Amino acid sequence: MIRQAARDFAQRDLIQDVIERDHKEIFPATHVETMKHLGFFGMMVSPEYGGGGMDMVSYVLAIEEISKVDSSLAVIMSVHNSLVCSGIEKYGTKEQKAKYLHDFTTGKKIGAFLLSEPEAGSDATRQKTLAEDKGDYYLVNGTKNWISNANCGSVYLLIAQTHPEKRHKGINALIVDKDLPGITLGPHEDKMGLRSSDTHSVMFNDVKVPKENRIGEDGFGFKLAMSLLEGGRIGIAAQATGIAAGAFERSVQYAHERKAFNTEIINHQAIAFKLADMAVKIENARNLVLKAAWLKDQGKSYLLAGSMAKLYAADIAMEVTTEAVQIHGGYGYVKEYHVERLMREAKLTQIYEGTSEIQKIVISRAISKGI
Ligand code: CAA
Repeated sequence: MIRQAARDFAQRDLIQDVIERDHKEIFPATHVETMKHLGFFGMMVSPEYGGGGMDMVSYVLAIEEISKVDSSLAVIMSVHNSLVCSGIEKYGTKEQKAKYLHDFTTGKKIGAFLLSEPEAGSDATRQKTLAEDKGDYYLVNGTKNWISNANCGSVYLLIAQTHPEKRHKGINALIVDKDLPGITLGPHEDKMGLRSSDTHSVMFNDVKVPKENRIGEDGFGFKLAMSLLEGGRIGIAAQATGIAAGAFERSVQYAHERKAFNTEIINHQAIAFKLADMAVKIENARNLVLKAAWLKDQGKSYLLAGSMAKLYAADIAMEVTTEAVQIHGGYGYVKEYHVERLMREAKLTQIYEGTSEIQKIVISRAISKGI
């Protein structure tokens, strides 16, 4: 039912204006409202806080269907659910949960996750944004880069350094209300893909964040970020699978419609074998995603499975969308047929929430430790 609801929403609503929104970088405000009514904000949050109480498997099914059509919507949903809602629900105090989760589950407030900086991307320990301890508040100064939901989000989960001499053990995670004085946004980023998602840099200039907004013990911020990314990566793997599957569905349809040399092109082995290879890769990616999500739902370790799913799904999303463009020929290179956009969207899945190379670090370290 969840998969069908997401599929109907994507194939009925999102498809209508996805090309125009991509072209003109229009934020999908109306569709975000529909997603709120569908219960896609706070899907996995406990019903105690108004959430859907659903599991990770349900969540990845929804993300995959939405990503078949529009990854901009998928990333808005993904950052909000798997990084911000999960972070506050898993590690927040009773008071923090009561204050924020109800507004997250209704979608009244959207969350953003502020980890990346101009000089701290893959090497996330090198946080330069400072959260100085001033007694009953933190004084925050610094810049965060490539922040999804930076403008539409009204609550930030900020990762910042309090004790530079302690390196990653000095980092804190703070809940920051976006309307605090001293917060400004850079211009909307002109991206290759996901052009209607809301990406900005965020500047902090003497922003006072109350001490009670820190999540966890002093110095817990880096571990919190790593732990959240473990789950977030499963969502991005589902997104990559959806992008590949969307391009595949379009390719099958086109290969039936398009005729060359007196027959539908699906009857040519050159095209049929491409489709066969694409189908196998997508099935493998989906199984890795579902395994990682299932492990998480069972309370088992999912670090390795999540990184494997992210690495594989992102790579095959690039391969499958490139082949989809090839199958479409000249039509694949113009915007009307969607596959060129899906190819642009696929590229980001190899970069954000940990590049493919970072996933290989995580996987190889896990292998070495025998996890
Ligand atoms: N859970 C909990 N703790 C973890 C952890 C995890 N998954 N992974 C590491 N840690 C802990 C370690 O135990 C260690 O703690 P101790 O010192 O107490 O033992 C500490 O964190 C440091 O770990 P490492 O020594 O392994 O750290 P490292 O510097 O070698 O980095 C890394 C590890 C995996 C490369 C990490 O830096 C990383 O994941 N980098 C990529 C960051 C990233 O994904 N950025 C994406 C930005 S968010 C985004 O893209 C959102 C969006 O817009 C969609």
